[in-house]
Amino acid sequence: FSILICRSWSVDQLKFPPSFMFGAASAAYQVEGAWNVSDKSPNLWDKLIHDRPELVADGSNGDVACDSYHLWRRDIEMCEELGLNMYRFSISWSRLLPSGYPNYISEDGKNYYSNLIDGLLEKGIEPIVTIFHFDLPQILQDLGGWANPLITDWFADYAEVVFSLYADRVKYWLTINEPMMLCDGGYEELGAPYFDDPDVGRYLCNKHTMIAHAKAYRIYDDLFRDKYHGKISLPTLFFWFKPFTPEDQEVTDLTIDHWEGRYAHPIFSKEGGWPRKLEKLLNDLAKKEGYKQPRLPPFTPEEIQLVRGTYDYYALNHYTTRLVRRVKPGEQPGQWLFYGSSELNTIMDKDPAWGTTAVDWFSVYPPGLREQLHWLNSTYDVKEIIITENGVPSLDPDLVDTQRLEYYRDYLEQVLLAIKDGINVTGYIAWTLMDNFEWLNGYVAKYGLYAVDFSDPNRTRTPRESARYFSAVTKCRTIHP
Ligand code: BG6
Repeated sequence: FSILICRSWSVDQLKFPPSFMFGAASAAYQVEGAWNVSDKSPNLWDKLIHDRPELVADGSNGDVACDSYHLWRRDIEMCEELGLNMYRFSISWSRLLPSGYPNYISEDGKNYYSNLIDGLLEKGIEPIVTIFHFDLPQILQDLGGWANPLITDWFADYAEVVFSLYADRVKYWLTINEPMMLCDGGYEELGAPYFDDPDVGRYLCNKHTMIAHAKAYRIYDDLFRDKYHGKISLPTLFFWFKPFTPEDQEVTDLTIDHWEGRYAHPIFSKEGGWPRKLEKLLNDLAKKEGYKQPRLPPFTPEEIQLVRGTYDYYALNHYTTRLVRRVKPGEQPGQWLFYGSSELNTIMDKDPAWGTTAVDWFSVYPPGLREQLHWLNSTYDVKEIIITENGVPSLDPDLVDTQRLEYYRDYLEQVLLAIKDGINVTGYIAWTLMDNFEWLNGYVAKYGLYAVDFSDPNRTRTPRESARYFSAVTKCRTIHP
C-alpha cells in the first residue's frame, strides 16, 4: 500500500485508544478448500452441498474456496498490509480430528493451524480462534449432530484437544460461532435431518450449544487458565431491533429475546437460564399445539449454574437493524429468520429511510450498532465487548467498493461514539478479510476487503478501496485519516 500520512486531527477528532484492536475474520469452510486433502474427513457442508448443489445460489461449494490451506502465508501478508492487530479464523474439526473424536489427531491438520498461528505471531498479529464455525464432522452429524445431547461432550473433548495444542500461543478464543444461525438457520431454513418438526431440532440444538460452550469454558478454566490467561466467549449474531412505533416496544423486546436472548441470557445474564417471559410464551404455545414437551428444553438448576457466567468478554456479530411490529388483522407473519416470526406473530422490516444494499434483507443503519452496544452494556454484566464480525455484502466484484468503505467508516464512527459514551469496546473485526464461500450465497455475495479471483487457479487476492481505507484507519487510529 502507498505510504500514508495521517491527517493531523483536530481537538475533537475522536481516536481509538492505543490498546484498541483491529481485525478481520474468516472461517475454515469458507476459505480453506483442500476438502479431502490428507486425512481430513468430510464435514456437514462437504456432504450437504455435494449432495444438493441446488441449495447454493451458484451451485458452487467450498472444495477449493480461497485455497487458504495452501495460501495461508499470503493471508498473513494481507493482515499485515491492513495493519491488523488480530486475525480471526476457525479450526476445522474434521481436519484436526478426522473421526470426530480425540482418539486420533491429524498430524497435517495440527501442523496447518500451528503454522498459521506461528506465522501470525511472528508478524505481531494476535490470533483469535473460533473452535467451531458451522462445519460439523459428517460422522457426528450422522449421529444426530447438534440435536443429540452427547454433542456437549463431543465438543468439550474436541475443545480440550484444541486448547492443549494451541493455548500456549492463542489468547483469544471463541467457542461456537453464531449458534442462532447454526440452530435456527440449520433446522428451520435448511431442514436439517432427523426431525419432522424443525422447532424440535432447533430448540434442542439451542440448549446443547449452551451446554457445550460452557463445558469447553470450564475445561479452559480448570486446565489452562492459570498458565495461559486467555479470554473466551461465544459470538452471537445479533441484528439490532427497533419498534415500528412506541406501541411495538414490548414485542420488540420479545424479539430480541427470541433472536438473541435464547443464546445470550443463559451465559451473560445474572440469573442465567432462558429469558423467562419468552420461555413461558413458547412453552404455552407448545401446549396449545398439543406437544407434551415444552418447546424450550428446560435447564436443570445445575445446568443453569454450569452455563451462567462462562465468558470473559462479549463477542458481538453485528450486521444490520430491523423494525418490528405485530401482524395486523388479516396479515400473515413475515418469514423467519429475517422478516418475522410465526411464533411471535410479527413482521420485521427495514425502514425506508435507511440505506439499501444490493442484498435485499440488508439495510445500512449505523446508529443501530451504538444503540445495541448501549443495550448490551446495560442489560448484561459485560466488562469488555469485542465486535467479532461487521461488514456489508455486495454482488459485484468491483475493486472500487465505495459502499463498503462508507459502511466501515460509518459503523466505526458509531464504535468511537460508544467508546466516548464509556462503553468498553476493545476490538473491531471486519467480516471479511477476502471474498469467500458465503454459504447458501456461494460466491455471489462478496464481503471481502480483498477481492479473490475464483477463476484463477492461484486464487489471486487484490485489495479493494475499502482495504486501503481500513489500513489507513488502523494506522491513523481514526476514521477520517
Ligand atoms: C455470519 C457468519 O453470519 O455472516 C459468516 O458468521 C457469514 O460465516 C457472514 O459468512 C455473512 O453471511 P451471509 O449469509 O450473508 O453469507
